[in-house]
Amino acid sequence: MASTTKISLADLDLFEHGDPWAAFDELRATDPVHWDDEEAPNHGFWSLTRYHDIVGVLRDTETFSSERGAVNLEELDEEQLEARKSMLETDGMRHRALRKLMQGEFTPRAVAGYETFLRGLTAKTLDAAFEKQEFDFVKEVAADFPIRVLARMLDVPEQDIDQLIEWGNRMIGNTDPEHADVLIDSEESEQYRLLPFRSPAALEVFEYGNELARQRRGKDGTDLVSRLVNQVPEDGVPLSQRDFNSYFLLLVVAGNETTRHAITHSMRYLIDNPDQMHLLQERPELIPWGVEEFLRMASPVYHFRRTATRDTEIGGKQIKEGDKVVTWFAAGNRDPEVFPDPYRMDVTRTPNEHMAFGRGGPHMCLGNALARLEIRVMYETLLPRVKRVEALGPVDHLRSNFVNGVKRFPVRVELA
Ligand code: HEM
Repeated sequence: MASTTKISLADLDLFEHGDPWAAFDELRATDPVHWDDEEAPNHGFWSLTRYHDIVGVLRDTETFSSERGAVNLEELDEEQLEARKSMLETDGMRHRALRKLMQGEFTPRAVAGYETFLRGLTAKTLDAAFEKQEFDFVKEVAADFPIRVLARMLDVPEQDIDQLIEWGNRMIGNTDPEHADVLIDSEESEQYRLLPFRSPAALEVFEYGNELARQRRGKDGTDLVSRLVNQVPEDGVPLSQRDFNSYFLLLVVAGNETTRHAITHSMRYLIDNPDQMHLLQERPELIPWGVEEFLRMASPVYHFRRTATRDTEIGGKQIKEGDKVVTWFAAGNRDPEVFPDPYRMDVTRTPNEHMAFGRGGPHMCLGNALARLEIRVMYETLLPRVKRVEALGPVDHLRSNFVNGVKRFPVRVELA
């Protein structure tokens, strides 16, 4: 299949050192349904960069399935699909049943129950960071905040938190030599091909989750693990060992890295847009709207993907059964047809129907209310305490085209 532009969104250099936003803009303007060739054994993929094309694919689950892999570009054989399948890679009734197991724990009302805890945690985190004045915002503020909340929901001890963070880093960072113990495209990763992210860290996560399950099975705990092991999905099919492992791993990973990066990018955009920062400081009642703009601009997850179940067409391009179709949420979030002047940060932007959590389909982020609450509480606590925040260096990007990650962000804070 001929491509009309030379941009490759499989090129990790673009995401680590280059300007993926310029690449998204060029594709959206010149080749919005773009074919990228890939080296064997992969077969290439379609990249969607227009908001409405992406929503169309996410909604049409009959034509665009998650069952052949959703998490990245890696093509999985039957054995891998079977071994690694999680809710993310499940369609239809079974997906609904799996999702429903945890849905009640993540509604806006349910997560509001954590607000007081979150306020205390945020204040403590900021006290410690602000004492230093100059510090790495990722390490001191953003990194362990989301996982501490999850640790509480999972009811695991404080001393395990560093370990949970490290597992997340190793799995999500599986394309970054600084984080991965086994890089996804290395020969060594072959022996881990049946594990999520091809990461040996997954084995440690499974072992940890299984020990918690053993302790909590048959008891009446209300934490997430107790709910997982003591409930049968509404389709009547109990969780298999694989289902439990992948569900537990998803809970540990999904809410950790993503929210961390959302918090860091938000700080960065506020530093770059002091007028917006002042506006939120003067009118804190706007912060919930600000959070939506933070999420749009941050786009912590660059993409997920689907696979075509039949021959079809998008924007005049012929998609063949079996083709991978990649939905670049980050590109949709800068589509000028939907977001006028998309690079301008406007914390009062309305409407702001961004797709940072996906949009319109059944897989839309389960943890979105929790993530929104965490970001809101962070900035409601941080903004009144600072007079000025200055970047002491650029953000250091994760080598990944899946998660828009920041490894380090040095800042100096002048307190109010
Ligand atoms: C800013 C933070 C977050 C972002 C940007 C984000 C992004 C996303 C996206 C884009 C999806 C859709 C996947 C698809 O379409 O295939 C998703 C799914 C999911 N997210 Fe999040 N997420 C965030 C925070 C969280 C949190 C805090 C949790 C909870 C612990 C969480 C748990 C999940 C789960 C379980 C799914 C799978 C849902 C399903 O397949 O039905 N996420 N997330």
